[in-house]
Amino acid sequence: MLTTIQVHDKYFVPYLTSEEIVDKVKELAEKLNKDYEGKRPLFISVLNGSFMFSADLFKYLTIEAEICFIKLASYKGTKSSGHVITAIGLDTDITNRDIIILEDIIDTGKTINQFLPQVYNQQPSSLKIAVLLHKPEATVFPIHIDYICFTIPNKFVVGYGLDYDGLGRNLAHLYQLK
Ligand code: IMP
Ligand code: MG
Repeated sequence: MLTTIQVHDKYFVPYLTSEEIVDKVKELAEKLNKDYEGKRPLFISVLNGSFMFSADLFKYLTIEAEICFIKLASYKGTKSSGHVITAIGLDTDITNRDIIILEDIIDTGKTINQFLPQVYNQQPSSLKIAVLLHKPEATVFPIHIDYICFTIPNKFVVGYGLDYDGLGRNLAHLYQLK
């Protein structure tokens, strides 16, 4: 049975089970298999938070697809630190490619908002955003999200790749701040 857990000084309660998450991720893969049939999209997975989401999603893609992993922002504590660093690891040529950005969560939208112009500059033939989680109540930067697995309330979450100050990423289920 799932119980309350402690990460650092905070307590978290079970929110979404790994089965619920993986079911949604499979649904997203099926949508992408249809939408990108006959194409060869390049997925850009934003580390660290999206590693588990990206790995699960990729297993259920049946289309030809490529993936690269980049690092963008550091996120400290339970609030966006606001420090967005430039993309590290974007070494694949994205000009004329169908790009899908994979993010673990869109909170304020700042991270993705700062990164998008860098991608547009390289003139991809299409650009879409797929996220595991979206907190619409927290989003203040204008952003169009094409694929969302779960819309969640404005509460801090850990697990399934997401951390609280470095910990909690290894939890298979998603937990919400108590
Ligand atoms: P944003 O720039 O405010 O949209 O937040 C971007 C990043 O903050 C995400 O990619 C996450 O790494 C992190 N983040 C935002 N909300 C949470 C949360 O509830 N739990 C863990 N990390 C979060
Ligand atoms: Mg992240």
